[in-house]
Amino acid sequence: MPAVRRLDASLDLTLEAATDTASTTRRELFAGRRVAPSILSADFSRLGAQIDEVMAAGARIIHVDVMDGHFVPPITIGPLIAASISDRVHDAGGVIDVHLMIDNPDRQIEEFAKAGADCITFHAEATAHINRTLNAVRELGCLAGLAINPGTPIAAVSESVREADVFLCMTVNPGWGGQPFIRDSPDKVRRLSKLVGDGTIEVDGGIDPSTAGSVAAAGAGLFVAGSAVFGADDPTAAYASIAEAAGAV
Ligand code: DX5
Ligand code: ZN
Repeated sequence: MPAVRRLDASLDLTLEAATDTASTTRRELFAGRRVAPSILSADFSRLGAQIDEVMAAGARIIHVDVMDGHFVPPITIGPLIAASISDRVHDAGGVIDVHLMIDNPDRQIEEFAKAGADCITFHAEATAHINRTLNAVRELGCLAGLAINPGTPIAAVSESVREADVFLCMTVNPGWGGQPFIRDSPDKVRRLSKLVGDGTIEVDGGIDPSTAGSVAAAGAGLFVAGSAVFGADDPTAAYASIAEAAGAV
């Protein structure tokens, strides 16, 4: 898979079957307590260097926020960007966590799997066929994640506990980085944690050293942080502070 592709080239990447080792690494990383830097807040003119910096600081899960201008107002990034960072992240022992904030996610999951996604998360609010899409993600060899907005009850995932590997509890309304953490989130994470048992709970939005501890205590295992990492003067130190607050490695 080329590290850099012409933007006018068709996305004809082949779907590589996950090896046993890759699959184990992926499961172990998502099962541990970890901070996942979101490249949404990175400087895209030097994206590779920004990823190298957070991975040197200890990050192994790189979060990729995909927005379509429909499910949420902004349009952000697509499979081309995921493919362009895939070798860099995987060669350094990391994995790619794709967060689809798009309508009709079932139409896009194969492209993201081909682009190197290890986990593909979509929103329960974005499709009428949650379990079909979760199964389709797993059949593509990826971990399957199900996200819910702050206004969506946890019951939205109750019939998908066995089908999903990751449950993403939004701690802001999706669409932009840098929004304030919703204060009721720890209570929701606590209730979600009881519902999903062993599944990984991911939190996303407003995570920083002052908020990570409250959702960690409530049962979150994966902490997405964008502006608190890439918006900091020293992303390495910022990563370490969030990891410490979350009790993460
Ligand atoms: C928001 C995205 C987040 C975003 C978080 O809709 O899903 O992943 O990058 O940004 P911060 O950490 O700045 O709240
Ligand atoms: Zn996200």
